[in-house]
Amino acid sequence: MRGSLYLIGGVLALTGCGATPHPKPLAELTPEETRGHVVYETNCAVCHYDRQNGVLHGPSLSGVFKKPALPSGAAATDERVSATVLHGRNNMPAMANRVDDADLTALLAYLHTL
Ligand code: HEC
Repeated sequence: MRGSLYLIGGVLALTGCGATPHPKPLAELTPEETRGHVVYETNCAVCHYDRQNGVLHGPSLSGVFKKPALPSGAAATDERVSATVLHGRNNMPAMANRVDDADLTALLAYLHTL
């Protein structure tokens, strides 16, 4: 099963179907996206990669909004990601006490660049 997934991934990469996300370079981020990057580094980086694949404590956020679904299978929407951040999910702690509305808006803007 894993092998065939890698195979499909490889074929998509070879055919240029965008299977490998290309994050916007950090130097090209808007001020809002840069703020979101700081929010990510402060609150998420300890558990999630952003610009590479692989599991840290949680799944990589690389290309999170470019994929059709989140790792849980939920739709990859601002609403679902916001709810995950605010309320937590299984081993991910709720972060509503650390991330305010403006932080969250900026964070979503940054995650959309991945
Ligand atoms: C203490 C570690 C930790 C921190 C900090 C953390 N996460 Fe997570 N996160 C996890 C774990 C573990 C999961 C997997 C939860 C599960 O589905 O079982 C997860 C899952 C997720 C998911 C996928 C949800 C889904 O439906 O599949 C998203 C998106 C996410 N985190 C975003 C964030 C963002 C954005 C931040 C920063 C504001 C953050 N996380 C901070 C540990 C963390």
